[in-house]
Amino acid sequence: MEKLKIGIVGAGNIACNAHLKAYKECRNAVPVAICDLDFDRAKKAAEEFGISATYASVEEMLEKADIDAVDICTWNNGHAPVCIAAAKAGKHVLCEKPLAMTVEEGLAMKAAIDEAGVTFHLAVPSRFGYPNMYLRELYEAGEFGEVYYAKTSAIRRRGTPTGWFTDKKTSGGGPVIDIGVHRIDAAWYLMGTPKPVRVSANVFYKIGDYQTKGVGRWQGTPCPDNQFDCEDAGVGIIHFENGATMLIEASWALNAPPKEETLICGTKAGATVEPLVIFGERAGHLSTDEITVFPQNDKFKLEIEHFAEHALKGSRDTKYPIDQAITMQRMLQAMYDSAAQGKEIVLE
Ligand SMILES: NC(=O)c1ccc[n+]([C@@H]2O[C@H](COP(=O)([O-])OP(=O)(O)OC[C@H]3O[C@@H](n4cnc5c(N)ncnc54)[C@H](O)[C@@H]3O)[C@@H](O)[C@H]2O)c1
Repeated sequence: MEKLKIGIVGAGNIACNAHLKAYKECRNAVPVAICDLDFDRAKKAAEEFGISATYASVEEMLEKADIDAVDICTWNNGHAPVCIAAAKAGKHVLCEKPLAMTVEEGLAMKAAIDEAGVTFHLAVPSRFGYPNMYLRELYEAGEFGEVYYAKTSAIRRRGTPTGWFTDKKTSGGGPVIDIGVHRIDAAWYLMGTPKPVRVSANVFYKIGDYQTKGVGRWQGTPCPDNQFDCEDAGVGIIHFENGATMLIEASWALNAPPKEETLICGTKAGATVEPLVIFGERAGHLSTDEITVFPQNDKFKLEIEHFAEHALKGSRDTKYPIDQAITMQRMLQAMYDSAAQGKEIVLE
């Protein structure tokens, strides 16, 4: 089978612990080049995963490597410049979440992608997790009726990542943009990706830089000035054009029980994703159905194969195309803007 030739950009945690492991199992994509600002890191990953070509910058990789696509696994501040350079070089783009740090960056990415006519997919692996796929199938079959309310939480009690994640100029923000994006997307996807029209939110800068002992952290690459200027928690409410509403809470640190939860409520039935339960009625009585799906161990592989399949056939109609990615970025930015301005943000 023809395989999409991939150049990996950024050889850190998500590349080495998720994407590169997934490529080993992929039927239609193969990493043939890798680059990182830290050349030694790129070399180490290349050795570990048997990649032949190693570069110190994306520019060099785009110029010299025989690749069809890039897989962007850099810090968030690298997503826009790398995507734009790759699209201009005619390469398809798979980009880790979040799309960018701002809507403005996202729009520049869209302009480059549309101009080049390349395939784009935003990597948000929960769309390829079995619970979400199953619930989305039910949504499409009309089993929930009109989905008019959702509530989604990504609560860490103590889970601030280290390094660049807390440096706003590198990350674009804290838990809202980092982990909130996964849960907001899970709910939004199961609501049928309606158009957001009004957003009200608050973010907090309280206890994220804690000294608590015995708690684990996602290890981001250290940043030079060890900056911590991101929020440590955020809450918000998004209203959609179809009248639906979503409540959101996301934290790296909050004195609350840890929680990963997404609830959707429709006129015919509701559901939670974690655990996978359907709340409905059967023959006039309440029903609560626990559904068993396969363990979620291959969502990165499924996502990469989906991207590669579209890129190989020149289709731009991926599960997470650039226009949806921009709408998501608008919701995230509106949460920050609402918090900063102390008022509801109306989206065009
Ligand atoms: N899908 C998920 O569940 C998930 C989980 C964690 C992180 N992520 C995302 O993955 C991305 C990377 O996170 P990470 O935890 O792997 O970070 P990391 O710090 O471990 O690795 C990032 C690597 O990118 C390199 N890099 C940065 N800018 C670059 C550029 N312009 N060109 C080349 N290399 C560059 C860095 O030197 C570093 O080695 C982020 O966007 C993050 O939001 C996604």
